[in-house]
Amino acid sequence: MKFTQFPRRQYLKGNTPLEAMPRLSVALGGDINLFVKRDDLLPGAAGGNKTRKLEFCIADALANNADCIVTCGAIQSNHCRLTLSWSNVEQLDCHLILEERVSGTYDKNASGNHFLYDVLGAKSKTIVDAGTDMVAAMETKASELRAEGKSPYIIPGGASNAIGAMGYAVCAEEIMGQLNEMQLNIEHLIVPSGSAGTHSGMVVGMLGCSGNVDISGINVSKKKQPQEANVLKLAIETAEKLEIHKEVTANDIVCFDEYVGEGYSVATDSMIEAVEMFAQHESILLDPVYSGKAAAGLIDLVRKGHFPSGSNVLFLHTGGSPVLFQYMDSFRH
Ligand SMILES: Cc1ncc(COP(=O)(O)O)c(C=O)c1O
Repeated sequence: MKFTQFPRRQYLKGNTPLEAMPRLSVALGGDINLFVKRDDLLPGAAGGNKTRKLEFCIADALANNADCIVTCGAIQSNHCRLTLSWSNVEQLDCHLILEERVSGTYDKNASGNHFLYDVLGAKSKTIVDAGTDMVAAMETKASELRAEGKSPYIIPGGASNAIGAMGYAVCAEEIMGQLNEMQLNIEHLIVPSGSAGTHSGMVVGMLGCSGNVDISGINVSKKKQPQEANVLKLAIETAEKLEIHKEVTANDIVCFDEYVGEGYSVATDSMIEAVEMFAQHESILLDPVYSGKAAAGLIDLVRKGHFPSGSNVLFLHTGGSPVLFQYMDSFRH
């Protein structure tokens, strides 16, 4: 895939590890061989998946002569933390619009990413109610900045547009390179599916390099059908941008919505079990909102016999562990 035709910053310092999870595999019966792609170890303050997308989005901002960034997310957004982190590196001011998606959960003294927004020095934080039109809210902020003589660049929530999703097409190519080097065949890949850029980019990337790996997304908020539609739409846009001459179809997109629980960011028993299993068997810290629920899906699918016996299954760890510190009560038994 020809990524060089697009502006791109080089935030990655080589490949993230792709490693076996032998103890977790045994704990789940030993019939399935589990592997993990450690995108939680990507560079950028406290790591996580957005760095791959921001290589393209922030490069696009700089190519458009932006002098500040406006973006949005939930009040504990990993995307906002990492956009702020890379804005600092590029010496761009970063303005955050933060949605209180579960009413009553905003606490100005919160831990986790919210605390890190202050440490990293967000230029402004605007807290808005659940259901606010986030695109309009970012546009309002950008207009205010323009009126002050600034040149803002808006990065959408999760950096999930065709520019950002290319970062996960890069990741697919990286994974295939690693598998070839390790002489390892992976049949299934599990990814968290939120604002959809990670899932879409991975589908497009696997298509672009003929990876022949089944990809399943584990939803973190939406129902199956609307999420599959979102992922498909973004995958088609990303494939067009990358000029991939293979059609992305609805058959390429599979989402599971059984692990969301009561809603986005609301703790579930299966998430707590998954976070503890990864920590206690593999010393890997997940997060309660994305990778923890995705891992709950992985564990349940293994237990249910969803994967044929002897399969090699790869889990994409997208990071987010700072948010664990906002959920300490959920883990006190
Ligand atoms: C830690 C973590 N994992 C997974 C995701 C989901 O990725 P995407 O929004 O690209 O679907 C996010 C999104 O914010 C995240 O912060």
